[in-house]
Amino acid sequence: MNNNLVIPNHVAIILDGNGRWAQAKGKTRSEGHYAGFNNLDKLSEYIFEKGVQVLSVYAFSTENFKRTKEEVNYLMDLFTEGFKRYSKRLNKKDIRIVFSGRREPLPNKVLKIMDKITEDTTNNKKGIFNICVNYGGQYELVDAVKEIANKIQNNQLTLNEIDLITLNSHMYNNLPPVDLMIRTSGEYRLSNFLLFQNAYAEFYFPDVYFPAFTTEEFDKAIIEYNKRDRRYGGIKNDNQSN
Ligand code: IPE
Ligand code: IPE
Ligand code: MG
Repeated sequence: MNNNLVIPNHVAIILDGNGRWAQAKGKTRSEGHYAGFNNLDKLSEYIFEKGVQVLSVYAFSTENFKRTKEEVNYLMDLFTEGFKRYSKRLNKKDIRIVFSGRREPLPNKVLKIMDKITEDTTNNKKGIFNICVNYGGQYELVDAVKEIANKIQNNQLTLNEIDLITLNSHMYNNLPPVDLMIRTSGEYRLSNFLLFQNAYAEFYFPDVYFPAFTTEEFDKAIIEYNKRDRRYGGIKNDNQSN
């Protein structure tokens, strides 16, 4: 891969298509989730090796609790095992792991693992892996507004101090904006993911299901990202002479 490529600082991935990947192979949905989790284990390490500073992944949305008890339970078990595995691998690489989302109604066993991993990796410096579990972008905004209102009420913050930086620092984690947002499986929607942080992200929608989103597929995403012209509401770079 061309070494002159610009590497996005913050990459976000909606890990979608585990179920359809399994169905296409005559496997169960659980097997699809397992394959997705295995894939993320190696892929996350690769993405940090490429120079990405922050990687956010959408592992479970607030809305995913609408799924069958069986599927939700399977995923919760997978999280307890899988997160431990990620932390083992990434801790060695000096990557900090954080979680975004509401705690309620996640089972205690999952919360315990999340808290332990957060604590174990808190001093790591090479990058941040933000795992979004029981996450909803609209709820994140509601929760931030509540926290800010509470601080104002307790005289810890004044109205004039509220700006984009203050708002961002009241998100579940104080992260930089997303540069590249990838959703696998050929679906073209955000499904409530990082609504605030994705404001000027470049979007990329590969057709492959997440378990088949390999390191080579990630390289393709970076190449595509390098073809984009990010203007942030301004004018095209080569048009700025007058
Ligand atoms: C994404 O795969 C994983 C989670 C939402 C937990 P899906 O389970 O949504 O897979 P599809 O979209 O049904 O194929
Ligand atoms: C989004 O995928 C959530 C995650 C990948 C965790 P979904 O499969 O739940 O989204 P919809 O229902 O297709 O919008
Ligand atoms: Mg899906």
